[in-house]
Amino acid sequence: MRKLYGIIGDPVGHSMSPLIHNYFFQKYEINAEYRPFHVRKEDLQRKINELKEMNIAGFNVTIPHKEAIIPYLDDVDEQAKRIGAVNTVVQQNGKWIGYNTDGIGFLESLKKSVPNFQDKKIVIIGAGGAARAIYFTLAQEKVSRIDLCNRTRENAEKIIADCRMGNVESEIYHLQQCEEHLDQYDLIIQTTPVGMKPNVDQLPISLKNLSQHAFVYDIIYNPLETKFLQMAKLKGAGTENGLLMLLYQAAFAFQHWTTIFPDFKSLKPIIEKKIIGG
Ligand code: ATR
Repeated sequence: MRKLYGIIGDPVGHSMSPLIHNYFFQKYEINAEYRPFHVRKEDLQRKINELKEMNIAGFNVTIPHKEAIIPYLDDVDEQAKRIGAVNTVVQQNGKWIGYNTDGIGFLESLKKSVPNFQDKKIVIIGAGGAARAIYFTLAQEKVSRIDLCNRTRENAEKIIADCRMGNVESEIYHLQQCEEHLDQYDLIIQTTPVGMKPNVDQLPISLKNLSQHAFVYDIIYNPLETKFLQMAKLKGAGTENGLLMLLYQAAFAFQHWTTIFPDFKSLKPIIEKKIIGG
C-alpha cells in the first residue's frame, strides 16, 4: 500500500520539503508520497486527528507548530526534548515519536564548510527556534564560546538558561553592540528571517567590522545569496547559505522514516534552479 507522508505548517506552500522527499521516494523506489498540509494554529488539534485517521506514516513540522506539536506525541527523543521543538514525526506501531533534525542538519553542513568550527569564536544572530537548535547542538559539540546577538535580550537569555549541555560560555549582545565588535568573531551564524525573500534588501546587522578571515553562515536559502552573504563576500569572508542545512535536515528525517540516509548530490542543483526560478 502506498504510504503517506507530509509536512504541516502555516505557511506551507513555499516549502521545499515535498519536492525533496518525493524525489527521495522516487530515487529509492519507495511506494510513498509526501504532501503539504496547510494547518493553522487554531486547527492543529483537529488536523492532527485527521492525520491519524489517514494513517500518516510520518510528517515534518514547520512554523508555527514545532513546539505546539509536542503534547500530541506519544514520545519525544532526548535531543528534541532538550531543544523543546520537533520537526519530524515518525509513526511506529501506531505511536507517534518526535525528533528534531534541524540541529544535526546544521551541524553536518557546518562540518563540510568549517571543519575546525570547535576552535572558532562564534556568534549567533537571532534567538528563535533555529538559533535554539543550533546553540544546543554546538554546545554539545564542545564548543567553548558562543555569543548570542538578538533584538530582544530575554529571548537570548532563555536559550542560555535552558541549555544544560557542555561548558559553553556565552555573552548576550544587542544588534548594535555586535556590529561594533564583529571583528572578534571567526564564525557568524545568521538565523533571523531578515533578508529572506521578498525582503531581500534587508540586513540583520551591518558587516562593516567583519574580519576578512571570518566565515559567515546564513541559514536562509531563498534567496540563495542574501544581501548579508553578498556583503560578507565583499569583505573577503567565506560564506555558506542554508541550502545544505535544509538538505541534511531532510535527509535525517528521511532516515528516521525509511532507515535510508539519502544521497542528495543530484538534488541540490534541482532545488537551486527551483529557487532561482521562483
Ligand atoms: P525561527 O523560530 O524559525 O528561528 P523566528 O521566530 O521568526 O524564526 O525569528 C528568529 C529570530 O529572528 C528572533 O530571535 C527574532 O528576534 P526577537 O527575539 O527580538 O523577536 C529575530 N528577528 C525577526 N525579525 C527581526 C528583525 N526585523 N530584526 C532583527 N531580528 C529579527
